[in-house]
Amino acid sequence: MFPSRSSFPASFTWGAAAAAYQIEGAWNTEGKGLSVWDMMTSQPGRIWAGGTGKEACDHFHRYEEDIRLMQSLGFDAYRFSISWPRVIPSGVGQPNAKGLDFYDRLVDCMLDAGLQPWLTLFHWDYPYELFLQGGWLNDDSPAWFEEYTRLVVDRLSDRVSHWMTLNEPQCFLGMGHLTGEHAPGLKLGMKEVLLAVHNSMLAHGRSVQVIRERAKRKPIVGFAPVGCIFHPATDSAADADAAMRGMAEVYPDNLWNNTWFADPIVLGHYPEAGLKAYGSNAPTVRPGDMETICQPLDFYGCNIYSSTKVRAGEDGRIEIVQPGQGGAHTHFGWNVTPESLYWGPKFLAERYKLPIVVTENGLSLNDWVDLDGRVRDHARIDFLNRYLRQLDRAVADGVDVRGYFHWSILDNFEWAEGYKHRFGLVYVDYATQQRIPKESAYWFQRLMETNGDSL
Ligand code: NOJ
Repeated sequence: MFPSRSSFPASFTWGAAAAAYQIEGAWNTEGKGLSVWDMMTSQPGRIWAGGTGKEACDHFHRYEEDIRLMQSLGFDAYRFSISWPRVIPSGVGQPNAKGLDFYDRLVDCMLDAGLQPWLTLFHWDYPYELFLQGGWLNDDSPAWFEEYTRLVVDRLSDRVSHWMTLNEPQCFLGMGHLTGEHAPGLKLGMKEVLLAVHNSMLAHGRSVQVIRERAKRKPIVGFAPVGCIFHPATDSAADADAAMRGMAEVYPDNLWNNTWFADPIVLGHYPEAGLKAYGSNAPTVRPGDMETICQPLDFYGCNIYSSTKVRAGEDGRIEIVQPGQGGAHTHFGWNVTPESLYWGPKFLAERYKLPIVVTENGLSLNDWVDLDGRVRDHARIDFLNRYLRQLDRAVADGVDVRGYFHWSILDNFEWAEGYKHRFGLVYVDYATQQRIPKESAYWFQRLMETNGDSL
């Protein structure tokens, strides 16, 4: 046995991620109800070049091919999401047997391929019918989510162990309800938005309770928030401290923070900094709310793509250091900041004392197929090399990181950006639905084979 070069434990989970609306297509097939994204994409001018998820990657019909591809590349796990309106067309009430059958087949296929299913209950495709009743602003919304969770748990928990409740609440509430670029496209005031946030947290808590009460196999439960990640400009202790303090901050006019969401969910109370920042916009916390919201979790899932460089100013203030002109950025325009996979997990593990799973990381490029039929995405390989070395460093420094999920397995529908960006390890030709593994997919295969030693 050679000593391993990287620090990833043997039990480390290497996975790929995707979400229902972004890949499934089949938007009105076999009894599926409408989601707010079906609504949003039907409104002219909302989505780049008029893209929709009507067909997307047609994964609904091609899931076997996609799962076999993941198997052949050697993934341990696949993070997928359930489309709520596919399994309960109106959001509550009558389930759709055919929708449930689809996820049955999908999970069976994963297990047959040796892939662990990591199930996200809510990745943004909110039932349109429930939106018409107020959506997350309705006080009944936690109960609706509980009912939906029960259905999924009863159907799949004999085979699924890994559960995530909400994906990036910062985003579907911030971009969906405050700034309006995402479905349902609302531009509400902060007070109402924070009420929706509070309801979504209650929904999370009730969902975790149901998973724990009813799951047929011992569940491993988490959630998958995003947040704001900071990294220090220099090696100085003062800059490191500025970065760590910055990640605990809450900013009054937006939801891009870690602690307003994760403090209640993991620690059982809103953060002082947030109560100060949001002031009278903060929601009323009724007796029992925090007990519901704060349920024991098994891991902290984090979606990390980029970070902001900061330093300690003269008086200890956190100063943003602007990246210089011409710095590396992705097709989306996000700065390439490998340090985010060190400082993000470190901050979250120290504050929340939970095992960390990177539930999303990746980059968008404008990949194309070369004349010889190959997709040479060398920038993705370099990005991954740099980011994963930082994650490795976090593990070496004692941060308990249990897994990494690449976003995404396939190029897919990138919300308001339509099909402008390609995030996949596998290229999708949307005209023919042909899948072509990019060079990065083979690089990732080798990485997994060596459990990170090939870095
Ligand atoms: C976050 C979201 O969870 C996912 O749906 C999205 O495609 C990626 N980040 C990239 O923006």
